[in-house]
Amino acid sequence: MSAPSPPVGRPSSSGPRAAITTVGHFLPEERLTNADLEKMVDTSDEWIRTRTGITERRILRDETKATSDMAAGAAQEVLEKRGIDADDLDAIIVATVTPDMLFPATACLVQDKIGASNAWGFDLSAACSGFLFALTTGSQLIESGRYEKVLVIGADKMSSIVDYTDRTTCILFGDAAAGVLLEPHDEYGLIDAVQHVDGGHGDLLCMKGGGSLNPPTHATVDAKMHYIYQDGRPVFRHAVTAMADVCEEVMERNNLTGDDVDYLVPHQANLRIIDATAKRMGLTSEKVMINIDRYGNTTAATIPLCLYDWEDELSEGDNVVLTAFGGGFTWGASYLTWAYGE
Ligand code: UT7
Repeated sequence: MSAPSPPVGRPSSSGPRAAITTVGHFLPEERLTNADLEKMVDTSDEWIRTRTGITERRILRDETKATSDMAAGAAQEVLEKRGIDADDLDAIIVATVTPDMLFPATACLVQDKIGASNAWGFDLSAACSGFLFALTTGSQLIESGRYEKVLVIGADKMSSIVDYTDRTTCILFGDAAAGVLLEPHDEYGLIDAVQHVDGGHGDLLCMKGGGSLNPPTHATVDAKMHYIYQDGRPVFRHAVTAMADVCEEVMERNNLTGDDVDYLVPHQANLRIIDATAKRMGLTSEKVMINIDRYGNTTAATIPLCLYDWEDELSEGDNVVLTAFGGGFTWGASYLTWAYGE
Protein backbone atom coordinates (compact mmCIF):
# COMPACT_ATOMS: atom_id res chain seq x y z
CA MET A 1 0.00 0.00 0.00
CA SER A 2 1.40 3.41 -0.88
CA ALA A 3 1.89 6.02 1.81
CA PRO A 4 -0.75 8.79 1.97
CA SER A 5 0.22 11.87 -0.02
CA PRO A 6 1.38 14.81 2.10
CA PRO A 7 -1.09 17.67 2.49
CA VAL A 8 -0.32 19.87 -0.52
CA GLY A 9 -1.50 23.12 1.04
CA ARG A 10 0.72 22.80 4.10
CA PRO A 11 3.84 24.96 4.08
CA SER A 12 6.89 22.76 3.64
CA SER A 13 8.93 24.79 6.11
CA SER A 14 7.83 26.67 9.18
CA GLY A 15 7.08 29.65 6.95
CA PRO A 16 3.85 31.64 6.85
CA ARG A 17 0.49 30.34 5.77
CA ALA A 18 -1.49 32.03 3.02
CA ALA A 19 -4.54 33.67 4.58
CA ILE A 20 -7.56 35.28 2.97
CA THR A 21 -7.51 38.85 4.28
CA THR A 22 -10.25 40.47 2.15
CA VAL A 23 -13.13 39.40 -0.08
CA GLY A 24 -14.68 41.41 -2.92
CA HIS A 25 -17.38 40.75 -5.49
CA PHE A 26 -19.17 41.99 -8.58
CA LEU A 27 -22.76 41.12 -9.47
CA PRO A 28 -24.53 42.42 -12.58
CA GLU A 29 -27.75 44.21 -11.68
CA GLU A 30 -30.10 42.46 -14.10
CA ARG A 31 -31.99 39.49 -12.68
CA LEU A 32 -33.20 36.53 -14.78
CA THR A 33 -35.98 34.90 -12.76
CA ASN A 34 -37.61 31.50 -13.12
CA ALA A 35 -40.72 33.35 -14.29
CA ASP A 36 -38.66 34.95 -17.08
CA LEU A 37 -37.35 31.51 -18.11
CA GLU A 38 -40.91 30.10 -18.18
CA LYS A 39 -41.50 32.53 -21.07
CA MET A 40 -38.35 31.44 -22.92
CA VAL A 41 -38.36 27.61 -22.71
CA ASP A 42 -40.70 24.78 -21.68
CA THR A 43 -40.01 24.84 -17.94
CA SER A 44 -41.62 25.87 -14.66
CA ASP A 45 -40.61 27.71 -11.53
CA GLU A 46 -41.62 24.62 -9.55
CA TRP A 47 -39.37 22.27 -11.60
CA ILE A 48 -36.37 24.59 -11.36
CA ARG A 49 -36.72 25.20 -7.62
CA THR A 50 -37.29 21.56 -6.65
CA ARG A 51 -34.62 20.08 -8.97
CA THR A 52 -31.92 22.73 -8.47
CA GLY A 53 -32.80 25.19 -5.67
CA ILE A 54 -32.46 28.18 -8.01
CA THR A 55 -34.93 31.10 -8.01
CA GLU A 56 -33.03 33.72 -9.98
CA ARG A 57 -29.61 34.52 -11.42
CA ARG A 58 -27.76 37.65 -12.55
CA ILE A 59 -27.01 38.39 -16.20
CA LEU A 60 -24.42 40.82 -17.58
CA ARG A 61 -26.60 42.15 -20.37
CA ASP A 62 -24.25 44.92 -21.59
CA GLU A 63 -22.63 43.39 -24.69
CA THR A 64 -19.63 45.70 -24.40
CA LYS A 65 -18.74 44.19 -21.00
CA ALA A 66 -17.08 40.84 -20.38
CA THR A 67 -15.60 38.60 -17.69
CA SER A 68 -12.62 40.93 -17.17
CA ASP A 69 -14.97 43.83 -16.31
CA MET A 70 -16.68 41.80 -13.59
CA ALA A 71 -13.30 40.51 -12.34
CA ALA A 72 -11.91 44.06 -12.27
CA GLY A 73 -14.98 45.19 -10.30
CA ALA A 74 -14.35 42.47 -7.70
CA ALA A 75 -10.63 43.34 -7.63
CA GLN A 76 -11.39 47.03 -7.10
CA GLU A 77 -13.62 46.20 -4.14
CA VAL A 78 -10.85 44.05 -2.61
CA LEU A 79 -8.35 46.92 -2.94
CA GLU A 80 -10.74 49.47 -1.44
CA LYS A 81 -11.74 47.26 1.49
CA ARG A 82 -8.10 46.40 2.27
CA GLY A 83 -7.00 50.01 1.79
CA ILE A 84 -4.15 49.21 -0.57
CA ASP A 85 -3.14 50.42 -4.04
CA ALA A 86 -3.26 48.29 -7.17
CA ASP A 87 0.52 48.76 -7.35
CA ASP A 88 0.84 46.74 -4.12
CA LEU A 89 -0.37 43.56 -5.83
CA ASP A 90 2.28 40.97 -6.72
CA ALA A 91 0.16 38.59 -8.78
CA ILE A 92 -3.36 38.12 -10.16
CA ILE A 93 -4.85 34.69 -10.89
CA VAL A 94 -8.20 34.58 -12.66
CA ALA A 95 -10.10 31.28 -12.67
CA THR A 96 -12.54 31.28 -15.58
CA VAL A 97 -13.95 29.25 -18.47
CA THR A 98 -15.33 32.36 -20.13
CA PRO A 99 -12.22 34.48 -20.76
CA ASP A 100 -12.82 37.67 -22.75
CA MET A 101 -10.86 35.93 -25.53
CA LEU A 102 -8.56 32.93 -25.82
CA PHE A 103 -5.62 35.25 -25.30
CA PRO A 104 -4.45 37.54 -23.85
CA ALA A 105 -5.34 36.04 -20.49
CA THR A 106 -8.14 37.70 -18.56
CA ALA A 107 -5.63 38.28 -15.75
CA CYS A 108 -3.69 40.61 -18.08
CA LEU A 109 -6.87 42.54 -18.89
CA VAL A 110 -7.71 42.85 -15.20
CA GLN A 111 -4.13 43.97 -14.44
CA ASP A 112 -4.54 46.77 -16.98
CA LYS A 113 -8.07 47.75 -15.92
CA ILE A 114 -7.13 48.18 -12.27
CA GLY A 115 -3.62 49.54 -13.00
CA ALA A 116 -1.68 46.87 -11.08
CA SER A 117 1.64 47.86 -12.60
CA ASN A 118 3.78 45.52 -10.48
CA ALA A 119 1.68 42.35 -10.83
CA TRP A 120 2.15 39.36 -13.09
CA GLY A 121 -0.61 36.83 -13.56
CA PHE A 122 -2.38 34.14 -15.52
CA ASP A 123 -5.71 32.42 -16.04
CA LEU A 124 -6.56 29.04 -14.62
CA SER A 125 -9.06 26.78 -16.40
CA ALA A 126 -10.73 24.20 -14.16
CA ALA A 127 -14.42 25.05 -14.66
CA CYS A 128 -16.37 24.99 -11.39
CA SER A 129 -13.26 23.94 -9.43
CA GLY A 130 -11.30 26.87 -10.86
CA PHE A 131 -11.38 29.04 -7.75
CA LEU A 132 -10.30 26.18 -5.46
CA PHE A 133 -7.39 25.24 -7.72
CA ALA A 134 -6.42 28.92 -8.01
CA LEU A 135 -6.57 29.29 -4.23
CA THR A 136 -4.05 26.45 -3.84
CA THR A 137 -1.84 27.91 -6.57
CA GLY A 138 -1.97 31.44 -5.12
CA SER A 139 -1.30 30.11 -1.62
CA GLN A 140 1.84 28.40 -2.82
CA LEU A 141 3.09 31.71 -4.24
CA ILE A 142 2.65 33.21 -0.75
CA GLU A 143 4.16 30.18 1.02
CA SER A 144 7.22 30.41 -1.23
CA GLY A 145 8.04 33.63 0.58
CA ARG A 146 8.50 35.51 -2.70
CA TYR A 147 5.09 37.20 -2.83
CA GLU A 148 3.04 39.07 -0.24
CA LYS A 149 -0.17 40.06 -2.01
CA VAL A 150 -1.81 37.66 -4.43
CA LEU A 151 -5.28 38.32 -5.81
CA VAL A 152 -7.30 35.19 -6.63
CA ILE A 153 -10.49 35.80 -8.59
CA GLY A 154 -13.23 33.49 -9.86
CA ALA A 155 -15.17 35.11 -12.69
CA ASP A 156 -17.53 33.80 -15.35
CA LYS A 157 -19.91 35.38 -17.81
CA MET A 158 -21.81 32.13 -18.30
CA SER A 159 -24.52 33.91 -20.31
CA SER A 160 -21.94 34.21 -23.12
CA ILE A 161 -21.85 30.41 -23.61
CA VAL A 162 -25.39 29.41 -22.60
CA ASP A 163 -27.94 28.38 -25.22
CA TYR A 164 -31.15 30.09 -24.08
CA THR A 165 -33.23 27.62 -26.10
CA ASP A 166 -31.83 24.60 -24.18
CA ARG A 167 -33.94 24.15 -21.05
CA THR A 168 -31.55 21.60 -19.56
CA THR A 169 -28.74 24.16 -19.18
CA CYS A 170 -30.15 27.69 -19.47
CA ILE A 171 -31.94 27.48 -16.13
CA LEU A 172 -28.73 26.67 -14.27
CA PHE A 173 -26.18 29.40 -14.87
CA GLY A 174 -25.60 33.04 -13.94
CA ASP A 175 -22.89 35.69 -14.28
CA ALA A 176 -20.68 36.95 -11.43
CA ALA A 177 -17.16 37.55 -10.18
CA ALA A 178 -15.68 37.41 -6.70
CA GLY A 179 -12.18 37.28 -5.36
CA VAL A 180 -9.92 37.19 -2.35
CA LEU A 181 -6.61 38.73 -1.35
CA LEU A 182 -4.04 36.24 -0.05
CA GLU A 183 -1.36 37.48 2.35
CA PRO A 184 1.18 35.77 4.64
CA HIS A 185 -0.12 35.02 8.14
CA ASP A 186 1.70 33.49 11.11
CA GLU A 187 -1.30 31.61 12.45
CA TYR A 188 -4.28 31.30 10.11
CA GLY A 189 -4.77 30.44 6.45
CA LEU A 190 -4.85 27.51 4.05
CA ILE A 191 -3.95 24.30 5.85
CA ASP A 192 -4.68 21.56 3.36
CA ALA A 193 -6.03 21.01 -0.13
CA VAL A 194 -6.94 17.86 -2.05
CA GLN A 195 -7.41 18.13 -5.80
CA HIS A 196 -8.43 15.64 -8.46
CA VAL A 197 -9.03 15.55 -12.20
CA ASP A 198 -10.48 12.81 -14.40
CA GLY A 199 -10.29 13.73 -18.07
CA GLY A 200 -12.05 10.51 -19.02
CA HIS A 201 -15.39 12.22 -18.39
CA GLY A 202 -14.57 15.48 -20.12
CA ASP A 203 -17.20 14.92 -22.79
CA LEU A 204 -20.08 14.99 -20.28
CA LEU A 205 -19.67 18.70 -19.54
CA CYS A 206 -17.85 20.80 -22.11
CA MET A 207 -17.87 23.41 -24.85
CA LYS A 208 -16.99 21.55 -28.02
CA GLY A 209 -16.33 24.42 -30.40
CA GLY A 210 -14.05 27.43 -30.53
CA GLY A 211 -10.78 25.71 -29.61
CA SER A 212 -8.06 24.16 -31.75
CA LEU A 213 -10.03 20.92 -32.25
CA ASN A 214 -13.11 22.61 -33.67
CA PRO A 215 -12.14 26.19 -34.59
CA PRO A 216 -15.15 28.43 -35.09
CA THR A 217 -16.76 28.06 -38.51
CA HIS A 218 -20.29 28.49 -39.80
CA ALA A 219 -20.67 24.73 -39.38
CA THR A 220 -19.63 24.71 -35.69
CA VAL A 221 -21.96 27.62 -34.98
CA ASP A 222 -24.84 25.94 -36.84
CA ALA A 223 -24.18 22.84 -34.71
CA LYS A 224 -24.30 25.05 -31.58
CA MET A 225 -20.83 23.91 -30.56
CA HIS A 226 -20.07 27.35 -29.10
CA TYR A 227 -22.53 26.65 -26.27
CA ILE A 228 -22.09 24.73 -23.03
CA TYR A 229 -23.01 21.05 -23.33
CA GLN A 230 -23.95 18.98 -20.28
CA ASP A 231 -25.30 15.47 -19.80
CA GLY A 232 -26.82 16.38 -16.44
CA ARG A 233 -27.72 13.02 -14.92
CA PRO A 234 -24.25 11.36 -14.94
CA VAL A 235 -22.63 14.66 -13.94
CA PHE A 236 -25.01 14.83 -10.99
CA ARG A 237 -24.19 11.25 -9.93
CA HIS A 238 -20.43 11.84 -10.09
CA ALA A 239 -20.73 15.22 -8.32
CA VAL A 240 -22.64 13.79 -5.35
CA THR A 241 -20.11 11.02 -4.75
CA ALA A 242 -16.94 12.97 -5.55
CA MET A 243 -17.73 16.04 -3.45
CA ALA A 244 -18.68 14.01 -0.39
CA ASP A 245 -15.64 11.69 -0.81
CA VAL A 246 -13.15 14.52 -1.17
CA CYS A 247 -14.57 16.37 1.84
CA GLU A 248 -14.28 13.19 3.88
CA GLU A 249 -10.68 12.84 2.62
CA VAL A 250 -9.69 16.35 3.75
CA MET A 251 -11.48 15.92 7.09
CA GLU A 252 -9.77 12.58 7.79
CA ARG A 253 -6.34 13.95 6.87
CA ASN A 254 -6.83 16.76 9.36
CA ASN A 255 -8.66 14.80 12.08
CA LEU A 256 -11.79 16.91 11.71
CA THR A 257 -15.30 15.77 12.62
CA GLY A 258 -18.49 17.57 11.60
CA ASP A 259 -18.46 19.28 15.00
CA ASP A 260 -15.02 20.81 14.27
CA VAL A 261 -16.12 22.37 10.97
CA ASP A 262 -17.60 25.84 11.42
CA TYR A 263 -18.56 26.37 7.76
CA LEU A 264 -18.81 24.38 4.55
CA VAL A 265 -18.46 26.48 1.39
CA PRO A 266 -19.72 24.25 -1.42
CA HIS A 267 -19.78 24.98 -5.12
CA GLN A 268 -23.35 26.00 -5.98
CA ALA A 269 -24.46 23.75 -8.86
CA ASN A 270 -27.46 22.02 -7.33
CA LEU A 271 -28.98 22.25 -3.84
CA ARG A 272 -29.42 18.45 -3.79
CA ILE A 273 -25.65 17.95 -4.31
CA ILE A 274 -24.89 20.45 -1.51
CA ASP A 275 -27.35 18.75 0.87
CA ALA A 276 -25.89 15.29 0.18
CA THR A 277 -22.34 16.57 0.86
CA ALA A 278 -23.33 18.31 4.11
CA LYS A 279 -25.18 15.20 5.28
CA ARG A 280 -22.16 12.92 4.70
CA MET A 281 -19.97 15.43 6.60
CA GLY A 282 -22.41 15.44 9.53
CA LEU A 283 -23.07 19.17 9.31
CA THR A 284 -26.18 21.00 10.47
CA SER A 285 -27.74 23.34 7.90
CA GLU A 286 -26.64 26.60 9.57
CA LYS A 287 -23.00 25.64 8.88
CA VAL A 288 -23.54 25.38 5.12
CA MET A 289 -23.22 28.46 2.90
CA ILE A 290 -25.99 28.41 0.29
CA ASN A 291 -26.79 31.26 -2.10
CA ILE A 292 -27.68 29.22 -5.22
CA ASP A 293 -31.27 30.47 -4.90
CA ARG A 294 -30.14 34.03 -5.69
CA TYR A 295 -27.35 33.54 -8.23
CA GLY A 296 -27.59 30.03 -9.76
CA ASN A 297 -24.35 28.39 -10.82
CA THR A 298 -21.76 31.10 -11.48
CA THR A 299 -19.01 28.50 -12.16
CA ALA A 300 -15.67 29.83 -10.79
CA ALA A 301 -17.34 32.64 -8.83
CA THR A 302 -19.60 30.58 -6.53
CA ILE A 303 -17.17 29.90 -3.68
CA PRO A 304 -15.74 33.43 -3.24
CA LEU A 305 -19.28 34.81 -3.67
CA CYS A 306 -20.37 32.69 -0.71
CA LEU A 307 -17.39 33.96 1.31
CA TYR A 308 -18.47 37.51 0.45
CA ASP A 309 -22.08 36.88 1.51
CA TRP A 310 -21.01 35.22 4.80
CA GLU A 311 -18.07 37.53 5.59
CA ASP A 312 -19.86 39.17 8.54
CA GLU A 313 -20.69 35.78 10.06
CA LEU A 314 -17.13 34.41 9.83
CA SER A 315 -14.85 34.79 12.87
CA GLU A 316 -11.11 34.64 13.35
CA GLY A 317 -10.01 31.01 13.76
CA ASP A 318 -13.13 29.45 12.19
CA ASN A 319 -12.50 26.09 10.52
CA VAL A 320 -13.75 26.37 6.95
CA VAL A 321 -13.97 23.58 4.34
CA LEU A 322 -14.42 24.58 0.71
CA THR A 323 -15.37 22.09 -1.98
CA ALA A 324 -16.17 22.02 -5.68
CA PHE A 325 -16.91 19.69 -8.57
CA GLY A 326 -17.04 20.59 -12.24
CA GLY A 327 -16.24 20.01 -15.88
CA GLY A 328 -13.07 18.10 -16.64
CA PHE A 329 -13.99 16.38 -14.39
CA THR A 330 -12.26 18.48 -11.75
CA TRP A 331 -12.93 18.39 -8.02
CA GLY A 332 -11.38 19.12 -4.68
CA ALA A 333 -11.70 20.24 -1.09
CA SER A 334 -9.63 22.70 0.91
CA TYR A 335 -9.38 23.29 4.63
CA LEU A 336 -8.47 26.72 5.96
CA THR A 337 -8.71 28.70 9.15
CA TRP A 338 -10.32 32.12 8.76
CA ALA A 339 -8.01 35.02 9.56
CA TYR A 340 -10.27 37.90 10.58
CA GLY A 341 -13.65 38.89 12.01
CA GLU A 342 -15.24 39.21 15.45
O1 UT7 B 1 -21.37 22.84 -11.95
C1 UT7 B 1 -20.73 21.84 -12.64
C2 UT7 B 1 -21.27 20.51 -12.36
N1 UT7 B 1 -22.66 20.44 -12.75
C3 UT7 B 1 -23.51 19.86 -11.93
O2 UT7 B 1 -23.16 19.47 -10.85
C4 UT7 B 1 -24.92 19.68 -12.43
C5 UT7 B 1 -25.33 18.27 -12.22
N2 UT7 B 1 -26.63 17.96 -12.74
C6 UT7 B 1 -27.78 18.47 -12.23
O3 UT7 B 1 -27.76 19.32 -11.37
C7 UT7 B 1 -29.07 17.89 -12.69
O4 UT7 B 1 -28.83 16.71 -13.44
C8 UT7 B 1 -29.95 18.86 -13.55
C9 UT7 B 1 -30.47 19.98 -12.68
C10 UT7 B 1 -29.13 19.42 -14.69
C11 UT7 B 1 -31.16 18.10 -14.08
O5 UT7 B 1 -31.90 17.54 -13.02
P1 UT7 B 1 -32.30 15.98 -13.01
O6 UT7 B 1 -33.09 15.75 -11.80
O7 UT7 B 1 -31.03 15.21 -13.20
O8 UT7 B 1 -33.23 15.91 -14.28
P2 UT7 B 1 -33.07 14.96 -15.53
O9 UT7 B 1 -31.98 15.45 -16.43
O10 UT7 B 1 -33.02 13.55 -15.06
O11 UT7 B 1 -34.46 15.22 -16.25
C12 UT7 B 1 -35.71 14.81 -15.65
C13 UT7 B 1 -36.82 15.27 -16.57
C14 UT7 B 1 -36.58 14.91 -18.04
O12 UT7 B 1 -37.82 14.55 -18.60
P3 UT7 B 1 -38.17 13.00 -18.81
O13 UT7 B 1 -37.09 12.46 -19.69
O14 UT7 B 1 -38.17 12.40 -17.44
O15 UT7 B 1 -39.51 13.08 -19.45
C15 UT7 B 1 -36.11 16.20 -18.63
O16 UT7 B 1 -36.40 16.31 -20.01
O17 UT7 B 1 -36.95 16.70 -16.52
C16 UT7 B 1 -36.90 17.22 -17.86
N3 UT7 B 1 -36.27 18.53 -17.81
C17 UT7 B 1 -36.94 19.65 -17.53
N4 UT7 B 1 -38.24 19.87 -17.25
C18 UT7 B 1 -38.60 21.13 -17.00
C19 UT7 B 1 -34.95 18.84 -17.99
N5 UT7 B 1 -34.77 20.18 -17.85
C20 UT7 B 1 -35.99 20.69 -17.56
C21 UT7 B 1 -36.44 21.99 -17.29
N6 UT7 B 1 -37.74 22.17 -17.00
N7 UT7 B 1 -35.61 23.05 -17.28
